[in-house]
Amino acid sequence: MEVLHADEIFKEFKEHSIAEFFKKNRQMLGYSSPVRSLVTVVHEYVTNSLDACEEAGILPEITVTITKLDENAFRVGVEDNGPGIPKAYVGKSLATILAGTKFHRYMQQRGQQGIGAAGCTLFSQITTGKPIKVVSYTGKGKSFICEVSIDTVRNKPIVSNTSESETAGDGKRGLYIEGDFADVKYENSDHGVYEYLKRTALSNPHTQIKLVDPEGKETVFLRSIDTIPERPKPTKPHPLGLSTNDILDFAHASQSRKISSFLIETFARTSQNKVNDLRNIAKGVDFDKDPKSMAWAEAEELVKAIKETQWIAPDASYIIPIGKEQIEKALKNILAPDFMSVTKRKPQVFRGGVPFVVEAAVAFGGGAGKKTAEGYEGNVLRFANKVPLLFDSGSCAITEAVKDIDWKRYKIDIENQPVSVLVNVSSVYIPYSGVGKEAIAQEDEIIDEIKLGVMEAARGVQRYISERTSANIDKSKYRTIMRYANQLAKDLSGLTGIDEKEIRGDLEKLVTKHYPKALDKEEQEEPEGKGKAETGDEGVQ
Ligand SMILES: Nc1ncnc2c1ncn2[C@@H]1O[C@H](COP(=O)(O)OP(=O)(O)OP(=O)(O)O)[C@@H](O)[C@H]1O
Ligand SMILES: [Mg+2]
Repeated sequence: MEVLHADEIFKEFKEHSIAEFFKKNRQMLGYSSPVRSLVTVVHEYVTNSLDACEEAGILPEITVTITKLDENAFRVGVEDNGPGIPKAYVGKSLATILAGTKFHRYMQQRGQQGIGAAGCTLFSQITTGKPIKVVSYTGKGKSFICEVSIDTVRNKPIVSNTSESETAGDGKRGLYIEGDFADVKYENSDHGVYEYLKRTALSNPHTQIKLVDPEGKETVFLRSIDTIPERPKPTKPHPLGLSTNDILDFAHASQSRKISSFLIETFARTSQNKVNDLRNIAKGVDFDKDPKSMAWAEAEELVKAIKETQWIAPDASYIIPIGKEQIEKALKNILAPDFMSVTKRKPQVFRGGVPFVVEAAVAFGGGAGKKTAEGYEGNVLRFANKVPLLFDSGSCAITEAVKDIDWKRYKIDIENQPVSVLVNVSSVYIPYSGVGKEAIAQEDEIIDEIKLGVMEAARGVQRYISERTSANIDKSKYRTIMRYANQLAKDLSGLTGIDEKEIRGDLEKLVTKHYPKALDKEEQEEPEGKGKAETGDEGVQ
């Protein structure tokens, strides 16, 4: 066979844009099966709306409308009441891959990469050939209407059919975005849009979400609380969480004059004293030179020196979990379980310096778990920064942790009982296992912490189950014995002439002394307040 010369082969050499790459590898963005693809579109738009509202300090109201166009084609419209997008940024935000307001920040938001919305634009374009329709209301009566698509060769936005209005209804704010997508399917399953939105409402109790499904049926997930969550705060990375490459990237982008000031300005918990400590260990690093000229070997030495230095733990105050009370209210509102127990754990760190917080809940009975033909089975509701994760459960740290728990210890049959286990992991940096952001990487520290949280919640539910069981036993014994006691009181009264009521009262006292929970009606029926344990367990029945 003739051996080809390199020149011959390299005639084919071409450069590609990131948009071209994702056009070929759409599964990486979550556009694989038809059901998952539709959920991905809804997920990208809804998370953007929630992020935008949270940053602007607005209680979110989101409407998702899905219209059937064809057997495998649907129109998705998402409207929010957020800040909208300024006219000059609409194209770049929604039709340029790797562009947005979040990528460069070290701040807890749902979006991280600047891929989501543009990914939807690309998906619409490659499956239906159509652009995305956008109406951006930025308040003060201003609105901007346009269509966007991507010039995939250059990864640049194409904005067309634009129009503007200065008199859009009463200072309305928000974004309306609408796209046509093919190779998608609407399904009422655990992996469908309805379930995704229901879980979003669970983890975002301050949000009101309306779904209009392809049959025109409207479902409104009403908000359970009226308080706007704290606005996320930007923070700085902790030195212990940094790799050599991270330090180099930060150094090369730095505006500081010296490596010493660069370290203080860029990283958390880094004072002049700490820099002096590092100077004493990392002898090969010139702390007075321009950080832009830092070499790999110097960054490597810095990482080593950082590991040998004592640091104050990272500040976790900028992590905003859902909140224990909020989870309780949302679970009551949406699942109405018989019992539940919610736990919020203290902040921990993974990879040495990245803080995270785990919240876990176990809900039992009512709408918890999943109905099957045979009865019930337990389900796991996974969340990362309040975003439901519906796919790739097999590779997720949450699944791994829940699987590892010995449920028998808590008298819970996770396979056959109506149980829902909810876990939310919050962090400024969630280590997702893929670009599709559907599973949390199986970092040991994260798995261990989730296990502890779920076990704590499981203990709470176990207490309620055994309390309910013992109350039920007391009640049934009381009923049986009192049947005899009533007859006995009557007979004794006849024999002795003592008032029947008096004898009955004495007998009742005797019976309830032995079965104290028999008359415990309130504990069984009062939804709030009763039997509240310190861990935050709550009996709802
Ligand atoms: N509903 C919205 N309201 C206001 N701004 C929005 C909205 N949707 C998107 N944006 C802006 O568009 C940018 C790009 O959104 P996109 O979903 O592509 O990326 P991202 O949310 O930053 O990150 P990720 O790829 O992780 O979703 C956002 O960073 C935000 O600035
Ligand atoms: Mg996004």
